[in-house]
Amino acid sequence: MEFMTAKEAAKQWNISQRRVAILCCENRIDGAEMLGKMWIIPKTATKPDDARSLRFQPLDNIAAKPFVKWAGGKAQILQEIRRLYPLGLGKTITKYAEPFVGGGAVLFDILSKYQLDEVYISDINQELITTYMQIQNNVAELISKLSLMEQKYLLLSDVERKVYYYDKRERFNALKTVANADAEVASLFIFLNRTCFNGLYRVNGKGGFNVPMGSYKNPTICDKNNLTSVSESLRNVRIVCGDYKNSFEFIDRNTFAYFDPPYRPLTSTASFTSYSQDGFDDEKQIELACFIKELSSKGAYVVASNSDPKNINESDNFFDNLYTSLSIARISASRAINSIGEGRGRVSELLISNYSGVRV
Ligand SMILES: C[S@@+](CC[C@H](N)C(=O)[O-])C[C@H]1O[C@@H](n2cnc3c(N)ncnc32)[C@H](O)[C@@H]1O
Repeated sequence: MEFMTAKEAAKQWNISQRRVAILCCENRIDGAEMLGKMWIIPKTATKPDDARSLRFQPLDNIAAKPFVKWAGGKAQILQEIRRLYPLGLGKTITKYAEPFVGGGAVLFDILSKYQLDEVYISDINQELITTYMQIQNNVAELISKLSLMEQKYLLLSDVERKVYYYDKRERFNALKTVANADAEVASLFIFLNRTCFNGLYRVNGKGGFNVPMGSYKNPTICDKNNLTSVSESLRNVRIVCGDYKNSFEFIDRNTFAYFDPPYRPLTSTASFTSYSQDGFDDEKQIELACFIKELSSKGAYVVASNSDPKNINESDNFFDNLYTSLSIARISASRAINSIGEGRGRVSELLISNYSGVRV
């Protein structure tokens, strides 16, 4: 394929070079590639219809980023996922859904780039969703609680910090049965996430959070600026606690939906599926694939991620067989959880999509 530079495209299309770069970032020029620091564009590419999409917001407009560390977080493979954002997102595609939202790395990326008419997020983790809702509706009280905890915690000795951490963990678990405690639940959720081991969220058989204390010297417990930006960006987002299947009504032919379920474990020892009391076994992976097929029939634009069983067993075709009619891209990621052996290293992961016109 022959390529031209952004400068050449700008001249040919009679728009600025900066505008061409923005269109490339928006994924609206099919086949455009980043080569070093410059864009190269297929010579056959044509100028998109509406070169000045009113919906596009520059990257630096809202700087919200995930407010928790989350196992399976997508920050480090965001660049690869971005390449799959469908053409027309923020234009003809006016809705976004992320039914397994977790820390929301993709959500916040999309919210900072596109103006959408409707956005839907959900997760089965009740305390995580309470925290999203508190950030949306009660951020000032949340910041004040977190700021107090941060001031106290950072002044404590190691021994005192340990007592403080386990005290807060016990209180957090006790709050499950207390009504009207959402602000406290949210502040403890963020405190524990920032100070526990590796930012994990793991529960025991009774649903109690049981992650031990981490060893951060100077953790940021109250990131006031980011919480304020997150609150702003969530203003019109529909936040739901529950199963991903509840998103069925919302998702239609104008929706881009990103599914990031708990990954299928590569080995029995590498299993990490305890974000909640209910695991996510092969039967659930199959149900999810059926759900995605139903959404495809509605005309929705769907991307899903998962682990690649071929990291361990080249002949394991679990997902290839499950998503035969969809496109499967294999990308490389560095993972601390859900990976092989020691639980660290580079592994292949799957990005599954149900539409063409993407640049994989
Ligand atoms: C891999 S994580 C998502 C990570 C997220 N993309 C990020 O960047 O942080 C999977 C999430 O799915 C949630 N989950 C598990 N089972 C679910 C279900 N049946 N419906 C909705 N959410 C579920 C978990 O609580 C967890 O937050």
